[in-house]
Amino acid sequence: MQITHFQLRKIFSKFWQEKDHKEIPPIPLIPQNDSTTLFTGSGMQQLVPYLLGEVHPLGKRLYNIQPCFRSQDIDEVGDNRHTTFFEMMGNWSLGDYFKKEQLIWFWNFLTKELGFKKERLYVTVFQGDEKNHLSADIESIEIWKSLRVDENHIFQYSPTKNWWSRAGIPDNMPENEPGGPDSEVFYDFGENLKIHENSPFKDQACHPNCDCGRFLEIGNSVFMQYKKTEKGFEELPNKNVDFGGGLERILAALNNNPDIFQTDIYFNIIKTIEKTANQSYTDEKNKKKMRVIADHLKGAVFLIKDGVYPSNKERGYFLRRLLRRTAVKFLQLKNQNITSNNLKPIVEEIINTYQDVYFKNNDLENIYQIISEEINRFNKTLSQGLKILAKIEKPTGKQIFDLYQSYGFPKELTEELLKEKGLSFDEKEFEKELKKHRDLSRTASAGMFKGGLADKSEQTIKYHTATHLLHQALFDVLGNSIKQEGSHITGERLRFDFYSLKKPTDQDLIKIEEIINKKIEEKIPVNFVILKKEEAYKIGAKSFFREKYPEMVKVYYIGQNLENAYSKEFCDGPHVKNTQTIDKINIIKLEKIGSNLYRLYAK
Ligand code: SER
Repeated sequence: MQITHFQLRKIFSKFWQEKDHKEIPPIPLIPQNDSTTLFTGSGMQQLVPYLLGEVHPLGKRLYNIQPCFRSQDIDEVGDNRHTTFFEMMGNWSLGDYFKKEQLIWFWNFLTKELGFKKERLYVTVFQGDEKNHLSADIESIEIWKSLRVDENHIFQYSPTKNWWSRAGIPDNMPENEPGGPDSEVFYDFGENLKIHENSPFKDQACHPNCDCGRFLEIGNSVFMQYKKTEKGFEELPNKNVDFGGGLERILAALNNNPDIFQTDIYFNIIKTIEKTANQSYTDEKNKKKMRVIADHLKGAVFLIKDGVYPSNKERGYFLRRLLRRTAVKFLQLKNQNITSNNLKPIVEEIINTYQDVYFKNNDLENIYQIISEEINRFNKTLSQGLKILAKIEKPTGKQIFDLYQSYGFPKELTEELLKEKGLSFDEKEFEKELKKHRDLSRTASAGMFKGGLADKSEQTIKYHTATHLLHQALFDVLGNSIKQEGSHITGERLRFDFYSLKKPTDQDLIKIEEIINKKIEEKIPVNFVILKKEEAYKIGAKSFFREKYPEMVKVYYIGQNLENAYSKEFCDGPHVKNTQTIDKINIIKLEKIGSNLYRLYAK
């Protein structure tokens, strides 16, 4: 019987536990305290300091299964093996065992625990790098031979294939980055698949790294023993092992089918897409689209679980691209926009697939809500945008920018759709338009906010203090998901944009209004202190998450003293001296401006 992903997880954990390994919890897809990468892309990411020599609190032998997101692979999604989201099974030795134990253990894991036939396995080793004075890994060849791996199943490759660091080959590594030679194991799906015939490599002899689809890499043992320095490569204090193997790929190999979308970690998701789109996966013309939908929605579900939500910047933009691409692929598949009725079962199936490995009971509702709102909003302009795009014969950067600006078509998506018709556009012109637009909106807002308030009239100052009260009252009534998205004050009114998982009801608005007015009646003093940034975060002062703050910050608090203050906020001011100066506040309007994004006006 086929091994399920649940069983594979158990077998893997048990295997390393029996060898005295401790499980380290996986980190979120958004690395905390690590600004080097946007997303967590490998299991070793949380171990960098320990590979460099720090002592790990759990000891020298570790393992885990780490959810990973590789944004750089988005364009590859659609073939049978690439995904943006995947899970990496990993084990580590921090200066404990080294090559011999690692290769023998992993080999036993594959052949004894999982039952792989050794005829189907190929291994690769590092052939050395003269330029960087790194020698060939003869030791690993000997170990593989001692395991009776056939000599013509052992291949040597250059650093492009058999060297691993987060930055890639030795030449590309920055100083202080750890790296080392590695040894990979490949599964051979067999010549009888004849995949090689259609590949660009068809005239060359096939080999494990040939990319034709016959071989799939299922595990990589990195021998982390070097650090890049100014002078070249230096030995690390410890000889470490960093192993990573893609869970989905191992499942595909166990399935003896190179299509990872046919393993049990995708199978039911694809089935649900088939059902909702009323199309069959076996139909070649549907495969790519269904794989994109399955991968992108899965990626979106995991990103949202870890705190990303759609926006126009960095991670949020990435999530937006995933969801909008999903909407386009679904439309192409079914000739109809994806609706809530279609979307929900797919999201539900994604969460069901993992049962309690990653999700809690109420995750579905929260995650689904963010996804459906983003997609519904895009659906409104999608068909119109596609019509416009269909008419464009010689696309200009300006047209592509207009599609982005007015119809929400991410540049990369338009690029992809144009490519299907053999068209392209001038990226530079697009960027120029984007910059022009940003400069315009910046000038428009510069008048409002210049390191605080440009208009320092008495009325705007009152509104400013009222905004702080409002910010805290939103937390009181709607809970901790609130994030300030921006605010704009004129002499006439205040406007406040915020993110909230809970949709504010009329009742909520009344409560918020009551709280603010009560605080006004209570005649509370308003003061500020200057604190170290860390200290300010520690005492729970609210900050604007889009802003980078200096080491020392000004914190305004509304209360008799800082400790018991009702509101604490990073802010340059100015503010009223006492809340009694502010007139009674009325919330006049609430608008929904995006997925879980609201705009509130008050007078
Ligand atoms: N860090 C290596 C990889 O990502 C092995 O875990 O492949």
